[in-house]
Amino acid sequence: MTLLSGAVVMLLLVGSLGFVHEVSAWPAMMAAMRGRNGGMDGMDGGVMDTIQHLMQNHDKITRHYAHTSAGITANTTSSDPQVAGWLQQHVTEMKHLVESGGFIRQCDPLFVSVFEHRDEISLEVTNTTHGVSVTEQGTSPCSVALVQAHAKVVSSFVERGSAEARRCNPHQVPDIC
Ligand SMILES: *[C@@H]1O[C@H](CO)[C@@H](O)[C@H](O)[C@H]1NC(C)=O
Ligand SMILES: *[C@@H]1O[C@H](CO)[C@@H](O)[C@H](O)[C@H]1NC(C)=O
Repeated sequence: MTLLSGAVVMLLLVGSLGFVHEVSAWPAMMAAMRGRNGGMDGMDGGVMDTIQHLMQNHDKITRHYAHTSAGITANTTSSDPQVAGWLQQHVTEMKHLVESGGFIRQCDPLFVSVFEHRDEISLEVTNTTHGVSVTEQGTSPCSVALVQAHAKVVSSFVERGSAEARRCNPHQVPDIC
């Protein structure tokens, strides 16, 4: 379960950003998550607070990722200790979300596909001095492509923040899927 739940952490890191300013979509998403699994109770405020902090400080976040044969490795960090803490906190919160059966950014085909393939995706997350380190792998050609496509989108959200994320603009599912 740890690998499964971790698999979507960075997905959620990005995906969740898309809802911060998605006024109409956000209540629907929260309702959907509650409808699917009551485990979200009591988490909503913290999750949203952390996302808002990351959105507002995206320009203080540095992210590097590299392809591996089976997926990616990524370091996402901030020299601002508070932002680094929020990165770690957000990953932890998203892990709990996934473990409780949650999902996010269902308006984006790439993210829908990642969720559909999450049994084929594993993720290791480590808190580092300045943020988080992630190793994400797929067990099929499609899931490997999904992991790599997703990592690219994560970086675009970190780079552009709400300007990129808030419209929940769709991202393409890899052809191989
Ligand atoms: C992540 O950080 C580790 C430790 O500094 C380094 O060995 C690795 O190359 C980095 N990976 C990427 C993708 O930047
Ligand atoms: C990583 O940091 C977060 C935020 O402080 C914390 O909640 C979580 O337990 C940490 N994870 C590990 C594996 O230490």
